[in-house]
Amino acid sequence: MTFPATRMRRLRQSEQLRALVRETALAPGDLIYPLFLCPGKGVRKPVGSMPGVFNLSVDEAVREAEQAAALGLGGLLLFGLPEGKDETGSGAWDEKGIVQLGLRALKASAAAQKFVLIADVCLCEYTSHGHCGVVVKGDEGFSVDNDPSLALLARTAVSLAQAGADVVAPSDMMDGRVGAIRKALDGAGCANTPILSYASKFASAFYGPFREAADSAPQFGDRKTYQMDGANLREAMREIELDLEEGADMILMKPAMPYLDVIRTARERFGVPMGAYQVSGEYSMLHAAFEKGWLDRDRAMLESLISIRRAGADFIVTYFAKEAVRLLQ
Ligand code: PBG
Repeated sequence: MTFPATRMRRLRQSEQLRALVRETALAPGDLIYPLFLCPGKGVRKPVGSMPGVFNLSVDEAVREAEQAAALGLGGLLLFGLPEGKDETGSGAWDEKGIVQLGLRALKASAAAQKFVLIADVCLCEYTSHGHCGVVVKGDEGFSVDNDPSLALLARTAVSLAQAGADVVAPSDMMDGRVGAIRKALDGAGCANTPILSYASKFASAFYGPFREAADSAPQFGDRKTYQMDGANLREAMREIELDLEEGADMILMKPAMPYLDVIRTARERFGVPMGAYQVSGEYSMLHAAFEKGWLDRDRAMLESLISIRRAGADFIVTYFAKEAVRLLQ
């Protein structure tokens, strides 16, 4: 049957009808809110390139967590800005490290019962050179050495799990890190700690503002030898397959909006829970347009999030989490 018997517009006549036939939903529990923890007390330092995002001392982070829990968010993703940095990033696995301290405080708060605390596992915020693994310098420049990085990442994951992380999320893109982390967690009595692996992570310009927020910009070179080339879809599927074989429980895809096809393809291929990270640059560019009055803030925000869910992500890491939930209520 075609026109005039068929009229697609019949089901678009009212908001009630549109709501009834809507295919994709966005719920507060689908959203994960990133927090950047820093030393001190009462610190709430704005990140210049990300309006509405702050570096928070632990006491402030607990207040943020309580708000986020009251809004019904799915969880928090924690990053740390340590007091000091060194060549190996030893602050990442320090028992008294910034995220470890934050986890203990958050665990003791009422908020922790209501959602999931996810700890990002990486070295770039903790290394003086800003790379995600061990750097070896030679005559022809430098390289990020894969295998020696694994033990450090595994140690970091164990330390975060022991401090109270419900989930650990490796974002470094070293080969073999999921297997190394799984083995270390199991050996340390953390067999029940799930791994959310950033399995499909592209070397992206859209991480720019994050590097200001987390003070993690590489001091030389770039991340192209470990993060994926943005042109590659098949390679992303191999990365995911390998991480699942090594024991990843869930996978995270990133960035989100410029890579919706990668999310869709992974959704069709893999039966595991899958998240997508609407990264800093995606957030900042929308904000810049909101500030200029070029885009309708509320509509553009929700449309960006629905598009990521429609592509196939079960949950979304987003700096819009709190604002978006207010619009859903
Ligand atoms: C750490 C890490 C990064 C992001 C998440 N974890 C930065 C990077 O890889 O350079 C980016 C998140 C964002 O842009 O919001 N490796």
